[in-house]
Amino acid sequence: APAIFRTIADLRATTASWHTQGLRVAMVPTMGALHAGHLALVEAGRQRAERIVVTIFVNPAQFAPNEDFAAYPRTETSDVEKLAALGVEAVFAPNAAEMYPPGYATTISLDGPAKGLETDFRPHFFAGVATVVAKLLLAGFPDFAMFGEKDYQQLLVVRRMVADLRLPTEIVGVPTMREADGLALSSRNAYLSAEERATAVRLNATLRQVASAIRAGDAPDAVLAAGIDSLKEAGFRPDYLALRNAETLAEVADLKAEPLRLLAAAWLGRTRLIDNIAA
Ligand code: PAJ
Repeated sequence: APAIFRTIADLRATTASWHTQGLRVAMVPTMGALHAGHLALVEAGRQRAERIVVTIFVNPAQFAPNEDFAAYPRTETSDVEKLAALGVEAVFAPNAAEMYPPGYATTISLDGPAKGLETDFRPHFFAGVATVVAKLLLAGFPDFAMFGEKDYQQLLVVRRMVADLRLPTEIVGVPTMREADGLALSSRNAYLSAEERATAVRLNATLRQVASAIRAGDAPDAVLAAGIDSLKEAGFRPDYLALRNAETLAEVADLKAEPLRLLAAAWLGRTRLIDNIAA
């Protein structure tokens, strides 16, 4: 079973001793409620490193007061069992006071890939994510840290932050794990009713339709507007459906010359789903 660390000092001592022994360390930051998508990050870490640290911390700083912080699933015992089955060496599961000591007053501020998309609807979100990820990387100094493409803007924000702060960790993006019908695995899928689960498949299906129309040469603005309409008809309340540069998330200036990513967020009842694909 993995060793469970509750303090930054204990984790730091252990990863330092691994490094002294010449062992490479991969970190997998999570908020727990682990599913096969998280486990794919663990497997990807295992391809690069002899030691894996999975962090489990439901980070209050990335939830707005009206969001699902209290309701977010907390399943540490079964999470640790899943990680034991994969041979994970360490779990870092601090409490909130360990991460945010009394008087805590420091937050990372972001620009570049953090502009727009999620930030238009969750303005607090990436500052909370970037700050906790920086603190996690400084608690373990991993050689690699694994992030899912499922949260594509998050992956680019973290990559930018690590480059800008010159943190000594390589950020690795891992492809999105999906259900057989295309729905991206997410801890929040557990909130969906049976009827909503049946509708949820339309999010990825719409992304695929829009991407193929754009690749076929249809005008993106018209295709994106039609995509929004079909999400609404299916029963979603879309926050955005947008085509962006896949490396910077800037607005696309030259369709033919740039790598393209199509990203969406939409509400289904009380659940907010996100997805994205290459276009
Ligand atoms: P969480 O939502 O638990 O996700 C942890 C990691 O798993 C993220 O890198 C996310 O992109 C990845 N992931 C989730 N679902 C996935 C899927 N279906 N396929 C592949 N990867 C998937 O994202 C967070 O936690 C937090 O913001 C965190 C980075 C831990 C900071 O608090």
